[in-house]
Amino acid sequence: MDVMEILKAYSAEVDTEIDDALKTLEPEELRDVSSHLIKAGGKKFRPALTILSCQAVGGNTEKALKAAAALELIHTFSLIHDDIMDNDDTRRGMKAVHKVWGEPLAILAGDTLFAKAYETIIKTADDNVGYERAIDALKVLVDSCIKICEGQALDMSFEDTFEVTQDEYMNMIYKKTGALITGATGAGAIIGGATSMQINALQEYGRNVGLAFQIQDDYIDLTGDESIGKPVGSDLVEGKKTVMVLYALEKANKEDHDRLIELLEANDDSIIPEAMSILEKYGAIQYARALAYDCVIKAKESLVVIPDSDAKDALMKLADFVYTRKA
Ligand code: IPE
Ligand code: IPE
Ligand code: MG
Ligand code: MG
Ligand code: MG
Repeated sequence: MDVMEILKAYSAEVDTEIDDALKTLEPEELRDVSSHLIKAGGKKFRPALTILSCQAVGGNTEKALKAAAALELIHTFSLIHDDIMDNDDTRRGMKAVHKVWGEPLAILAGDTLFAKAYETIIKTADDNVGYERAIDALKVLVDSCIKICEGQALDMSFEDTFEVTQDEYMNMIYKKTGALITGATGAGAIIGGATSMQINALQEYGRNVGLAFQIQDDYIDLTGDESIGKPVGSDLVEGKKTVMVLYALEKANKEDHDRLIELLEANDDSIIPEAMSILEKYGAIQYARALAYDCVIKAKESLVVIPDSDAKDALMKLADFVYTRKA
């Protein structure tokens, strides 16, 4: 199977679980605003990881569907709120939720999806998973959500400083993005009845896949085109401290260093080409590529303790995909 087939394999079933969760929402406007991004699709990367992690430890796919849906609901909540925080107008090729309905309803839609995710994962207990495993999966999800909030707080606080180290960047992206991907593999493994060694291995895989996923996201923000479905160059305009910016600031001569700071402080679209050329001049893009690749290798290495299967093979392919994806 190629990666697109892997990502699509269970997306219809996951969508059905999500539709079931949202269809009773009232009033209708809250249902519409909460469904807007879901309808736009997305790669469904996290639910695929949950299902594959469950399968990789010998678990039954059906039992992981609600957890997979819950992961996608949390992810979607985080995107709606993220676009408000990042001042971004487009998402998944459509207008961002707050651009259609305004910030108050967009915040509420995010809150709604957040609560629906918990409702959905708790219902996992009805699918013959048993309360113990369902609660363990729930704990993993709770931990991911707390980390997302911590990571998003760090991400925003870094906008106002140039004193950020690469370690601080890695910690921030682990929290804002890696933690949910770790939660996706962890919840799937738990529901599938994994041993604690297997849970640890799949979470370690998730952590490294998550780090690579965000480094690649930062790379795509700079080098992508409209096919990414969200604004290109937005991270530079917002003054985000991506690893590429940090690396260029570290390597640049005084003149370029000071100019880059000036550009990042301008808060204007017109700075994108010049800022980009400084990043390129110091090899920052290549550095980020190598860093992401390193994480992908580590992710794949941690799967050695998982027995060979089609699911494990798919997880290996998804790790590579994180580094090659263009959107
Ligand atoms: C985007 O996630 C937000 C990040 C955590 C980097 P995805 O790239 O998975 O977005 P969709 O779900 O495919 O739209
Ligand atoms: C996303 O980071 C982290 C989230 C928790 C949503 P970004 O802000 O880089 O994600 P995009 O690029 O807007 O999708
Ligand atoms: Mg953000
Ligand atoms: Mg963003
Ligand atoms: Mg981004």
